[in-house]
Amino acid sequence: MRVAAVMTAAAVLTLGIAGPKGGVHAAPALIDPHSVMSDPEQARADYVEHCSGCHGQHGDTVPAHLPELQGRVGWFMCTPEARAYLLRLPNVAHSRISDNAELADMMNYVVFVLGEGTAPVGTRPFTGEEVARERVHALTNMNLTAERLRLANQLVRQCHAPASIRALYIGEKR
Ligand code: HEC
Repeated sequence: MRVAAVMTAAAVLTLGIAGPKGGVHAAPALIDPHSVMSDPEQARADYVEHCSGCHGQHGDTVPAHLPELQGRVGWFMCTPEARAYLLRLPNVAHSRISDNAELADMMNYVVFVLGEGTAPVGTRPFTGEEVARERVHALTNMNLTAERLRLANQLVRQCHAPASIRALYIGEKR
């Protein structure tokens, strides 16, 4: 499964490089929410309740020392490790949403709706099984920053993500 997903991403990249702006996602694909979430309304409500306090209703809380999700977070779906990172984030893995399928739906809302077409075309949505598998390997706040930077470099190298993905938000002073 994972190999197939990576190959799909690679195939998309090949096409993307020839795209109008030289970017993979010059024209974000519109997705049908029902194709990636069994209950889009519940997923949105869960996001607003559990995540928007820090990340904003539209994933757009800036400036704050918080990662900007809007129009960016989908890039993390491009490698298996970065995809797993999204489910291992402390606030996600330890979320009070104990139902794995419900959490998968909410993360699909984050990646496919807030991410606005930055997930590679053909990306498989998260499933409850995948959430169950990854959330037991929650990252600690200790190693989070280094791990994020390592993965961001991977996205730039392997997926041609914009270099700005290394920063938490565009314009971050480091
Ligand atoms: C208390 C504030 C807070 C809450 C609540 C919170 N987050 Fe976060 N989130 C952060 C911070 C800070 C980071 C940066 C990594 C870290 O320190 O955990 C982060 C990192 C992330 C990232 C990685 C983005 C990147 O560019 O690396 C995602 C995705 C994310 N959070 C999604 C969520 C989701 C989904 C929820 C709701 C279940 C949530 N967060 C709840 C503060 C929060």
